[in-house]
Amino acid sequence: MFTQAKKILQKAQRNNYAVPAFGTFNLEMTQAIVRGAVAKKSPLIILVSPKTTQYSGAEIIVSMVKSVVKQEMQKTKKIPVALLLDHGKDFQTVKKAINAGFSSVMIDGSLLAYKKNIALTKKIVDYARQRKVDVQGELGGVPCAQKKSEKNKNKVDWDELMTDPDQAKEFVQKTKIDTLAVGIGNAHGFFKERPHLDWNRLEKIYQKVKCPLILHGASDFAYKNAPKAIKRGVVCFNIDTALKKTFSDNLKKFFKKNPGVYDTRVILDSARQAAQKKVEEKINAFYFPANKKR
Ligand code: 13P
Ligand code: ZN
Repeated sequence: MFTQAKKILQKAQRNNYAVPAFGTFNLEMTQAIVRGAVAKKSPLIILVSPKTTQYSGAEIIVSMVKSVVKQEMQKTKKIPVALLLDHGKDFQTVKKAINAGFSSVMIDGSLLAYKKNIALTKKIVDYARQRKVDVQGELGGVPCAQKKSEKNKNKVDWDELMTDPDQAKEFVQKTKIDTLAVGIGNAHGFFKERPHLDWNRLEKIYQKVKCPLILHGASDFAYKNAPKAIKRGVVCFNIDTALKKTFSDNLKKFFKKNPGVYDTRVILDSARQAAQKKVEEKINAFYFPANKKR
């Protein structure tokens, strides 16, 4: 059942729980994600980056995800699924994704000057809303381990990246975004987070903006901190690197153990199963419906 991410997240917000969002890049990963969510009966947000839409084509991704969702839910109770373009950086890329059939988009203007971020985000909200697509914006920043050289890997000016609560309030009001990605010391990939996540800041942001908050960089986010984040407005944990790592680690292991196997379906099935296990582990850690004990 295809729906907007905002609908999944507003429901989570009303009921004080969170939902994990998973990044995909191909058929097997999409199947792993959807199978994992169906097995756990968890609502699902599927993330696709602009790199992936460039690699495969936005239309192909949309058809693939819709087909997998249909196939995997034939015999089970339907779970809501949203397909979100993650970290769109410019109008054209986001527009293409909307026109290809994504239910939701993110515009990440976090590297732009504040006023430019507002202008670009607002332009996308105006375009998306007419097409019934919801929009996530970002203010503050979430650094990325892969984009840094080995030497500078752990050098981050965290203060620069922190979301300012007052600015966040103005940002949400001016852009009219549906959900907001925040920087509170979180980081993409296996990267040292700021030693202490800024919980006070998160609380203040939520008090001011009231809209559902998204925590990017949740691949190595400590499971024990999930309830603390949810209490402070986080309704979505974004996970991508952990799945890619599980998938490729499994391929490496498989080749080592089975040097004579060249049936790619057998090889990829093994990685798909490993990724599904990881998806289920993350859902256990981050999906907290009202009836689940913490
Ligand atoms: P990780 O790189 O920590 O998996 O974060 C994923 C993410 O934030 C996707 O937007
Ligand atoms: Zn992210």
